[in-house]
Amino acid sequence: MSWKTLERTPPVVPTDGPPVLCEEVREKIRSFFDRYETKRAVLLPALHVVQDALGHVPLAAMVEIADLLDLHPSDVLDTVSFYTHFWTKPKGDKVIVACRSISCEIMGSTDVLNELKRQLGIGEHETTPDGKYSLVTEECLAGCDYAPCVLINERLHRRVKPQNVAKLLADEQNDRIPYERSDLFDAPRAVAADRESSGSAKDAAGNGQSASQRNEIPDPS
Ligand code: FES
Repeated sequence: MSWKTLERTPPVVPTDGPPVLCEEVREKIRSFFDRYETKRAVLLPALHVVQDALGHVPLAAMVEIADLLDLHPSDVLDTVSFYTHFWTKPKGDKVIVACRSISCEIMGSTDVLNELKRQLGIGEHETTPDGKYSLVTEECLAGCDYAPCVLINERLHRRVKPQNVAKLLADEQNDRIPYERSDLFDAPRAVAADRESSGSAKDAAGNGQSASQRNEIPDPS
């Protein structure tokens, strides 16, 4: 038996730079204050807004969120570290989430995951060198009827087979849901403009097209 030594060094948060959160993001977070009885309750919406605006939630942003919500930074870190949805380091433009739960495993998710790793050239929790894709696994994605499932950003792909993977990765629209989404948690447009500019063009190209025109893997249902 051996003892494992845990890293207990407190993280160093840079404090000499400009604020991480711009005024638009702060205003978006404040817009939630009226909806809840306490500022603490705004923590999750705030984290969604920041994640959406920056692509991740760095330590400096956690300190600023804590300041906005009258919390201790460790409260924010506790929440961020609990949910795998929130990233503390930059992630790829698209996050591929492969289901690792039982229904998908029975239906061949391990082979799909291995094919994803092979074609992307990365392992779990890694990002491709071009920053396009990150790969993670999660428990049930709520699509068990259509196992095995893979989520790319917000879009669920169902009954994915290893032989589908190349086509799936080649599809520029593979993370775009084909219906309008709520903007409740979206970052302010001005902030997200740069990140979205290429996506907007893709949206425009995708609108009005059939599933086959968008090169989707057909829905088997
Ligand atoms: S087990 Fe994979 S979606 Fe439910």
